[in-house]
Amino acid sequence: MTVNILAIESSCDETSASVISDGKVLNNIIATQSVHEKYGGVVPELASRAHQQHIIPVVHEALSQSGVSKASLSGVAFTRGPGLMGSLLVGGSFAKSFAFALGIPLIEVNHMEAHILAHFIEDPKPTFPFICLTVSGGHTQLVLVRDYMEMEVVGETLDDAVGEAFDKIAKLLGLPYPGGPHLDKLAAEGNPRAFAFPVTSMKGLDFSFSGIKTAVMYFLKERLRDDPDFVKARMADICASVQFTLISMLLIKLKKASTMYRVKQIAIAGGVSANSGLRNTLAEVAEETGWQVFIPRMEYCTDNAAMIAMAGYIKYQYGIFCDLEVSPSAKMKIGKNG
Ligand code: KG4
Ligand code: ZN
Repeated sequence: MTVNILAIESSCDETSASVISDGKVLNNIIATQSVHEKYGGVVPELASRAHQQHIIPVVHEALSQSGVSKASLSGVAFTRGPGLMGSLLVGGSFAKSFAFALGIPLIEVNHMEAHILAHFIEDPKPTFPFICLTVSGGHTQLVLVRDYMEMEVVGETLDDAVGEAFDKIAKLLGLPYPGGPHLDKLAAEGNPRAFAFPVTSMKGLDFSFSGIKTAVMYFLKERLRDDPDFVKARMADICASVQFTLISMLLIKLKKASTMYRVKQIAIAGGVSANSGLRNTLAEVAEETGWQVFIPRMEYCTDNAAMIAMAGYIKYQYGIFCDLEVSPSAKMKIGKNG
């Protein structure tokens, strides 16, 4: 019998639904919330309200587009965390009610595990073991992936996530939210060695990104004192130098992890894997080191329900279901609740 799963993602500011049929993702409907732009960051209360508005149309669209009827669904998967509590509750309560009404299993998915399992949506797929660098607005983790359900966080940020560093520095430069993609675009025109920012390196495989944000803040203050047009005049060079420093910090630990665990299959996941500098650098490093690098298609890098669908499908195969009590604060293997 065909296994059809409906998946829902609502951990931050995207409301998304997807249908997967026997492991094949049929669609990936995403409603992005633009309401946060004018605040320069995600406002949790507004995010929950927007999820409430979007969830029914998004699920309806995913089901009708897929041609899979409610009666032929085998299970409902949802993001249990980590993420914004109110946002998670909207998706979780919806999924729970849906599964309860249809009398089918409910499958909880860890958002960070799903970012990694997004690599199994399309070819080429990594084989086990591989190392995944998960880089998003909320997380920066190095994960040793031994099997679909066997993942170990071997390094992570001790303060800001790298996406957060991109966004906060972009904000200092007056760029719109979220600043990561804007900074990336401007960096392409600049000289990455124009300015030197400190490369912070923590013990072992851990990261720290709060120092560079402060360093850029003081750097701008000083330069603007002498020249009020400094940012405007040197925007591309500043962006390129910041991006170069952030990528260097990621690469140092990625190389270290690859050596420590003798793993040459390297995957990246999460919103920051859309960064063109990171993608290009990985391609260069792959040549030098003999790494095989895996980067999912852009729509599967940023937050999306297709990755929840893939994770849900895998958990369905293993028969890992949850009861119909949904609490987003429940403990998880990977990540912290926001
Ligand atoms: O995974 P994601 O969509 O949501 C979270 O779970 O956080 O990641 C969003 C993050 C934001 O910080 C955004 O600025 C960053 O990914 N991002 C980028 C790029 N595209 C998205 N950062 C740098 N360069 C990009 N091209
Ligand atoms: Zn994410």
